[in-house]
Amino acid sequence: MIVEHRTDGQEFIDFAVREACGVSATYERLALAVSRDDEILALIHELPPAKRQPNLLFGVVRMLGGPVDDPGAFHDFAVEHWPAIEAQLQTRATQTNEPGRCAVLLPVLASLPQPLALLEVGASAGLCLYPDRFGYRYGEHRVGSGEPVLDCVAHGVAPPGGVPRVVWRAGLDLNPLDVTDPADVAWLEALIWPEHAHRRSRLRAAAAVAAADPPLLVRGDLVDDLPALAARAPAQATLVVFHSSVLFYVAPQRRAAFVDVVNGLPGHWLANESPGILPYPALPEPPGPALHNVLALDGTPLAWTRPHGQAVTWFAAAHPLAAPAPPPPPSLPPAR
Ligand SMILES: C[S@@+](CC[C@H](N)C(=O)[O-])C[C@H]1O[C@@H](n2cnc3c(N)ncnc32)[C@H](O)[C@@H]1O
Repeated sequence: MIVEHRTDGQEFIDFAVREACGVSATYERLALAVSRDDEILALIHELPPAKRQPNLLFGVVRMLGGPVDDPGAFHDFAVEHWPAIEAQLQTRATQTNEPGRCAVLLPVLASLPQPLALLEVGASAGLCLYPDRFGYRYGEHRVGSGEPVLDCVAHGVAPPGGVPRVVWRAGLDLNPLDVTDPADVAWLEALIWPEHAHRRSRLRAAAAVAAADPPLLVRGDLVDDLPALAARAPAQATLVVFHSSVLFYVAPQRRAAFVDVVNGLPGHWLANESPGILPYPALPEPPGPALHNVLALDGTPLAWTRPHGQAVTWFAAAHPLAAPAPPPPPSLPPAR
């Protein structure tokens, strides 16, 4: 039986409501307009299902210099330049590399036995492999002195006393991007949503850090090729296999295979993924309606995190990293 994947615009409505609402008014308006645009939907319908993502289309149009702030102008540009857009859609993928995520990983990384050997699966250009080089601001609390400075609101967890010591860093990706290639950096910039100028400047700052000391990036699959890369880590360092916003792209059976592989490795496994992607027991309510990821160490969920590293909200004080419990209230005066 052939299952036809119709493009009825629902993915654009979902994107507007679930992802862009409250984050990018430009993309929210544009996605809703495209969801009603039969001509654009017909073009998108000719693409393989995996290439019909709103974020991919909008990023490609922006990379090609097209307008995204005026739905009518977007329509005209997309229709006129569809062959060029389609060619880019076929070769590019959503590989947003968000160094801001290091701010939610840092409390865990700093708490592990040092030094660390970092291995990121789904590393994109590897910008999250430099948590020791960036600076952090958790409210009034500064950690590290590097650039970019990553702002993060931390609830229920004590900010780390310092950055971790990293002696080895490596990334694995189906399609590693190269921070020294202007075309790849242009694509990473185009993937950042229009209003997020602060994310563009921190991407450039993080790309400069990575370009000055490029990471070992290996083209490969996070199941099949992980053991060989992990075996290259220095034995005297704590191996940390980590990933952020990656397993969503991986079929459920392969996710299970990845969990088996990573559990068979020495060291630790740090995951930062959407709820429902990994099989966790009941999770507490997220702190609000916005999208959150789950931060988990060695399969134990620890915290809710905002997708770009804006905030981390620790679960109940059950883990040593949690902020100390507030002091008990002053004792009541003796009853008279
Ligand atoms: C959204 S990006 C996240 C990049 C980075 N982890 C971050 O947080 O900034 C997801 C990355 O996962 C990679 N990826 C997807 N499936 C993969 C697989 N089976 N093996 C290795 N990498 C994969 C993609 O190529 C992409 O670069």
